[in-house]
Amino acid sequence: MPNSPATKRIAILISGRGSNMVALADAVRRGTIPNAEVATVISDKRDAAGLESANERGIETLVIERGARTRQEHDREIVSALAARQIDLVCLAGYMRVLSSELINDYRGRILNIHPSLLPAFPGLDAQRQALEHGAKVSGCTVHFVDETLDGGPIVTQREVPIHEDDTVENLSARILIEEHRLYAAAVAKTLKKLSIK
Ligand code: GAR
Repeated sequence: MPNSPATKRIAILISGRGSNMVALADAVRRGTIPNAEVATVISDKRDAAGLESANERGIETLVIERGARTRQEHDREIVSALAARQIDLVCLAGYMRVLSSELINDYRGRILNIHPSLLPAFPGLDAQRQALEHGAKVSGCTVHFVDETLDGGPIVTQREVPIHEDDTVENLSARILIEEHRLYAAAVAKTLKKLSIK
């Protein structure tokens, strides 16, 4: 059956486990993210575990590795894959690369990322470890639009997660991840709604 014109096409970019990708795909299937379809999952790593989870759900998967190319050349190939599939919204889900302007210029305001801290605190790698090492009493997760900066674009929504005295990186990460899955689905639904009334 052809898509209704109202169906928004989402591409999810991953580098690893892909649990946020699965949360988004399942939210689309349940209708928590309405009028949407996950059209493709793109990984920059051939061995990303999330590829199998996407395949199991019948979602197209593409591996687009950087190899010896520049960041721009790599992103140019991703942009052509997105354009060929008429993608409306790009969701980074554990995609561990800073995007170049090749991708950002074409999809500005239509690329979201999820990060496991209350940005602007603790950008970059190991956000949960950074929060623990700073003695933060609260952390959480953030969904934001992607720009040229590292985890720095405008914030869409955030959720707090308290840090306990005896927290380890593992159990804090696990508690934040539960909230990430809920927050990302809500943020994608909200963003698609805004895009469809533009
Ligand atoms: C998630 O915690 C996500 O917030 C984080 O990587 C993990 C990926 O898990 N992303 C970043 O740190 C981005 N700066 P997943 O592959 O299971 O979704």
